[in-house]
Amino acid sequence: DTGMFTYDPGYTSTASCSSTITFIDGSKGELRYRGIPIETLATEHSYLETCYLLLNEHLPGKEELLDFDLELRHRAYIHEGLRTLFNAFPDNAHPMATLSATVTALASFHKEHLTLDNEADFHTMASRILAKIPTIAAFSYRHSLGIPFIQPNIELSFTENFLTMMRAYPGGKMKLTANGHSEIKEVEVRALDTIFTLHADHEQNASTTVVRGVASTGAHPYVAIASGISALWGRAHGGANESVIAQLEMIGSVDRVEEFIARAKDPNDDFRLMGFGHRVYKNFDPRAKILKTLQDELKEELDLDSHLMEIAGRIEEIALSDEYFISRNLYPNIDFYTGIILTALQIPKNMFTPIFVIGRTVGWITQWIEFKKDPTSKIARPRQLYVGK
Ligand code: SDX
Repeated sequence: DTGMFTYDPGYTSTASCSSTITFIDGSKGELRYRGIPIETLATEHSYLETCYLLLNEHLPGKEELLDFDLELRHRAYIHEGLRTLFNAFPDNAHPMATLSATVTALASFHKEHLTLDNEADFHTMASRILAKIPTIAAFSYRHSLGIPFIQPNIELSFTENFLTMMRAYPGGKMKLTANGHSEIKEVEVRALDTIFTLHADHEQNASTTVVRGVASTGAHPYVAIASGISALWGRAHGGANESVIAQLEMIGSVDRVEEFIARAKDPNDDFRLMGFGHRVYKNFDPRAKILKTLQDELKEELDLDSHLMEIAGRIEEIALSDEYFISRNLYPNIDFYTGIILTALQIPKNMFTPIFVIGRTVGWITQWIEFKKDPTSKIARPRQLYVGK
């Protein structure tokens, strides 16, 4: 036992460290942040309240929330020198690549965060990265289109500000869409805010393991976040949300669903149903349940792609009654539903995982801080079981 990992081939039955941040009951499909059920946070609180809860171990009062909100608005800007970094990337670079690289570079602009002597230091370091990630993500997207960046607007809330930086034309005008002005609607802000909340933290998942591992070496907190971004990109992890939509588009029609379900079951075919299955949930992912309800609620208010929803619905209907999936406890996970809602918010597929990053950064930095404050924590050094000759 190296204090962070205990060797376990299954890697699921042995806790790798103790934490007070997130509780998951995989068999019951329960998720709680600092003891509060995800259902309560997603329906009764804003994403910023959830961020405050994760970082401070209690929900904010009115004044605390106002101060936190204002601080993030002021910190949303990035150094002009960072903007030139984007030019090093080809237009068709995936926004996750520019996002990870820019967050690494951000460490060089805030070397002071290598030493954090008091609560105020931890708070400033955490608020800074929370506030800048949406800006960097939106700039990454606009660079991929070759269009000018839209600066953060201090008068807008965290989530509305991100949608505006994504969708506005130069000069701050809203981008025109086929159905006219795409002024950002309150229901769009609420939907995306809920999606951020559902992604905020998730205990010791693959990318959080990487963040805590980098924390254990004493590297800068922002390079730990950049490492988490890179780990999240994989399609078995955070990249799954982009793959779900690509898969629904590839299946293309309801009457081809059975063909792909058969492929997913075929041990000789590496095709997998994206958005299905989970390392820990052997029941419905509670986040998926909340998103499914949200999707049904938004069907009227947002023009959700009914064709993709029909294909997704058919996959769910077949998979949830099929012995192969039932016997393996394979249920829809959070990624199965996010894509259809994000598409309705005019967010392109290659920005789905950056959206996951925006939501999860608070979890990563909270986990990083918890690791740093734990006097018993040691450098990550899992062992390998040598089975060679
Ligand atoms: C996230 O850990 C976290 O908390 C992650 C996350 C977070 O918030 O941080 O929740 C976010 O990453 C959600 C997961 C997103 N990924 C996907 O949707 C990709 C598709 N899912 C699979 O790749 C898979 O289900 C995993 C990676 C999610 C979980 O893999 P496991 O638990 O290691 O499952 P396994 O590989 O041991 O499979 C068990 C069986 C195998 O069949 P047998 O060998 O027993 O015959 O189930 C089968 C697998 O072939 N299986 C699937 C399947 N997932 C597992 N078969 C078809 N389609 C699938 N999606």
